[in-house]
Amino acid sequence: MLKVIVIGSGNVAHHLVKVLLKAKNIELVQVVARTKNTMTALLSEDQIIFNYQAIKAADVYIVAVSDNAIEEVSNQLPFENRLVVHTSGTSELSILNSKNRKGVFYPLQTFSKSKEVDFSSIPLCLETENMSDYKSLEIIGKAISNKVYAISSEQRKALHVAAVFVNNFTNHLFQIGNQICKENNIPFEILHALILETAAKITQLNPKEAQTGPALRNDTKTIEKHLEFLKNSNYQDIYQLLTQSIQHVAKEL
Ligand SMILES: NC(=O)c1ccc[n+]([C@@H]2O[C@H](COP(=O)([O-])OP(=O)(O)OC[C@H]3O[C@@H](n4cnc5c(N)ncnc54)[C@H](OP(=O)(O)O)[C@@H]3O)[C@@H](O)[C@H]2O)c1
Repeated sequence: MLKVIVIGSGNVAHHLVKVLLKAKNIELVQVVARTKNTMTALLSEDQIIFNYQAIKAADVYIVAVSDNAIEEVSNQLPFENRLVVHTSGTSELSILNSKNRKGVFYPLQTFSKSKEVDFSSIPLCLETENMSDYKSLEIIGKAISNKVYAISSEQRKALHVAAVFVNNFTNHLFQIGNQICKENNIPFEILHALILETAAKITQLNPKEAQTGPALRNDTKTIEKHLEFLKNSNYQDIYQLLTQSIQHVAKEL
């Protein structure tokens, strides 16, 4: 049995606690919360503590607090040479206090308390300073998810930038598509199947192979018509920039 303590009671802590309580070979010993009346639906009162002095011994301490508070919380922990990990995609391993062994247990998904998640399909990005600590994180990771990866702080930084492209930027393009539909009295729902197929396709083909459209074909007449249609200069700029980028990538070997 691997003993785990979760520090924090926000979105990530909530989902982690829920899944760890059900995980095989994992004992969730305590949760450290800052605010009363949180986590009470998930845990008995004696498992929820509010000050670090009451913290018990465990194999792994998962610090799931706001990025800004990770350093401060790790400084306050009243023990040494134990494995303390954070759950942040953007914070480096080094942000944790060196009095303990450091690690990262980053679940690459978006979490809100009110939205259920299937943890088994969530990629877990793990990082530690040594192999034996990695094994401990791997045991926890594999007990709750089928997707466990060793990812360094440098790689995590890159992953976060890639995630902005594939999530935030594509969502912004959905928003533009939605606006164009709205202005032309077309239900955005008509595009749902295309959006889902675009996302599904790149699980089988690499994105470069999956690319289609006027930019790739260099259909200059169509491109001109589209630019003429778009009255919004911001949309025209985005259209032109993405067209150039698609054509640039297509020319690369
Ligand atoms: N949400 C996501 O989608 C997501 C995904 C992957 C990774 N992460 C990472 O997971 C971590 C937690 O994110 P979250 O979304 O769960 O945040 P959250 O819902 O905002 O919760 C933050 C938690 O940190 C606690 N906290 C804030 N300042 C503190 C301090 N000075 N001392 C002690 N505790 C403090 C809060 O306590 P109070 O409730 O008392 O304010 C709360 O329990 C972050 O590192 C984030 O980058 C988040």
